[in-house]
Amino acid sequence: PRKIIIDTDPGQDDAVAILLALASPEDIEVLGVTTVAGNVPLDLTTRNARIVCELAGKPETRIFAGCDAPLARPLVTAEHVHGKTGLDGPVLPEPTMPVADQHAVDFIIDTLRAEAAGSVTLCPLGPLTNIATALQKAPDIASRIAEIVLMGGAYFEVGNITPTAEFNIYVDPEAAKLVFACGAPITVMPLDVTHKALVTKPRNDAFRALGTPVGQAVAEMTDFFERFDKEKYGSLGAPLHDPCVTAYVIAPDLFKGRHINVEIETASDLTLGMTVADWWRVTDRAPNATFMGSIDADGFFALLTERLGRL
Ligand code: BDR
Ligand code: CA
Repeated sequence: PRKIIIDTDPGQDDAVAILLALASPEDIEVLGVTTVAGNVPLDLTTRNARIVCELAGKPETRIFAGCDAPLARPLVTAEHVHGKTGLDGPVLPEPTMPVADQHAVDFIIDTLRAEAAGSVTLCPLGPLTNIATALQKAPDIASRIAEIVLMGGAYFEVGNITPTAEFNIYVDPEAAKLVFACGAPITVMPLDVTHKALVTKPRNDAFRALGTPVGQAVAEMTDFFERFDKEKYGSLGAPLHDPCVTAYVIAPDLFKGRHINVEIETASDLTLGMTVADWWRVTDRAPNATFMGSIDADGFFALLTERLGRL
């Protein structure tokens, strides 16, 4: 299995991404879950991460709380999408599992130094504040990262929080800039991919039909989460953004993309947080990321449903 650290701001779609990873021990070893402020403030993302690990029946998972605000800006949250708690929808018990004492940033640094170089993959599902802070504090870790597989950005689909920016990148553009320049191999799941991973009615029914607490909770999470995209955009269902990251770690062939240059806008008020992706390679800027463009959505949902059924 590939060793990963999940860096997350749950979030219903983050929750499904974590469940998919925890359900797949033959493919993924979760070294730890690190939380960051994003969809909701840090105390809630940390609480939600604990709820999700308990729902998975894996209270032994190590959870580390990280940065509570972006590097250089006030936090922007997304209760309008995820609800007041960040995990609205299912009614789940208050968690009792512990949070580790260590700060998430130090856990990321120590783990990358302790494990063999090139053996740990980072899976960021929220703003990139923890990862950027770790890189700033310990630049030596960049060359030890196997891969950073992240959800963020957009190209054709452009933006979901401003006309030109995707939420995770917009919330901490300075952190994103640092991460995209760090030299580690980066794989990006932008809105162009995640807006094709839609929980349609039959896909939601398939979660519910698992007949398990996890299947029920995931169906209720996506019911809640979808009302936003459905009402606002007439979309067929909730886009499962973050599970694309953990699905990629398990089955990379579900996705297709291009190795290109991606730069992050940090100066313009108008286009702050835009991922300027050189899809057509019109510049000679060096490629720094594999930017995905398409997904085998049926294959993705088949994998997800089968794996969730194991929990
Ligand atoms: C991203 O923003 C969050 O609201 C989701 O959890 C996902 O990580 C989508 O833009
Ligand atoms: Ca997220």
